[in-house]
Amino acid sequence: MCISFSPTYKNLIEYFDSPNPIGSTTVYKSKPSVSYSMVKQMAKVFVNGYGNIGRRLASALSKDNEISLLGIAKYTIDEQILEDLKNKFDIYVPENLALKYKSSIAGTIEEAVSASDLVLDAAKEGKGYSNKIRFYQPLRKPAIFQGGEERHGDRAVAKMIHNSRVNFDEASGKQYVIQGSCNVSGMGKVMQPLMESFGDEIQRYDVTLVRRWADLEDSKEVKDSIQWDKNPHHQEDVKDFIPHANLYVEAFKVPSRMMHLHQMIVRFRSKAPTRDRILDLFTKEFAVAILNSAKGTADVRMKAIELGFEHGDTNMVHIHQDVLRVQEETLKIVYSDDQTGLVIPENHLLLQSMILRRPRSEAVKRTDKLFRISDKKRLLEREFA
Ligand SMILES: NC(=O)c1ccc[n+]([C@@H]2O[C@H](COP(=O)([O-])OP(=O)(O)OC[C@H]3O[C@@H](n4cnc5c(N)ncnc54)[C@H](OP(=O)(O)O)[C@@H]3O)[C@@H](O)[C@H]2O)c1
Repeated sequence: MCISFSPTYKNLIEYFDSPNPIGSTTVYKSKPSVSYSMVKQMAKVFVNGYGNIGRRLASALSKDNEISLLGIAKYTIDEQILEDLKNKFDIYVPENLALKYKSSIAGTIEEAVSASDLVLDAAKEGKGYSNKIRFYQPLRKPAIFQGGEERHGDRAVAKMIHNSRVNFDEASGKQYVIQGSCNVSGMGKVMQPLMESFGDEIQRYDVTLVRRWADLEDSKEVKDSIQWDKNPHHQEDVKDFIPHANLYVEAFKVPSRMMHLHQMIVRFRSKAPTRDRILDLFTKEFAVAILNSAKGTADVRMKAIELGFEHGDTNMVHIHQDVLRVQEETLKIVYSDDQTGLVIPENHLLLQSMILRRPRSEAVKRTDKLFRISDKKRLLEREFA
């Protein structure tokens, strides 16, 4: 389904002038801080969920001068959280908390959704569906969901999974789209250039995902175990946007907080291309770095923190050249995947396709400027030469 307005600035302006369907009269702490005339020029975005992904989305969007970030949702709240977020973002809460915190918040979640042009849903896995049914659908708001939401079945939130390297243009004007998870986004970034260059020469892809147990910011315990996954969703998710890939995925969760690592085994019908040809292919890829001397995922994460990258994110995948091997018909690629950071620029690209209907090249330029991805790539490649 397509969104109800054509997102030219003129239409956005007409849209902004339409009456608020909620019509609430409650007086809260503040209104969004940008002036009315500025708001008229910008797409209004609300971040629904402020966990590991939501906080990154909010901090990135707050620096984007063509987006008006309405604010963020908080479902768990206390005085300390309010104090920490004070002067950062306007806070919107569920209705049952609105009265208690009315002097510190900007409104309810329903009011924020109603006032937005697009919602970035960053809810705890699986809660995006109820948000869609409760808010986005009745208020006819386009929304981007995250990779933990369902693509198929009764609780499906969208008919498409986005990967900016593969199907960016198809998201243009869509009402609901899932941004692929970090593992799925990483696989797309590596598989698509291989498919474009070698197509039918490739017989199959076997990918082993070595997944981190928790994120750096998580308080949950990291269990000393290697867990397998009976039915990794990643295989079907990637096939959603690369349907013809002969792809097989296994996933193992390991006791680490420092990124995911993928080993992708690519079997060719005859002799595999040389290492140099493979490396050449990825040299100019956006958000793909080629590193040579990292010894593990923690080296890359700690370097990102040392170099002052925001949230310690690299926002990319890193092909480890020192363990890239070619043996007869087989190519083995090992790459680490910035679990929390990779999907944030992907969301930014996706929103440019959905509501601004930009061509990919232009969207990539804007995203690169906001996240400094090419600079970070150069720095990392120099550090791990
Ligand atoms: N973490 C990653 O590396 C990663 C990478 C790619 C994709 N993802 C996907 O991104 C999504 C979010 O993951 P996350 O790691 O950010 O989770 P998280 O850190 O557990 O945060 C989830 C947030 O959801 C909020 N929440 C609770 N109920 C909600 C509702 N009904 N609507 C909106 N938000 C609600 C919670 O808010 P309160 O704190 O206020 O209770 C919590 O902060 C998931 O689909 C996940 O699969 C995660």
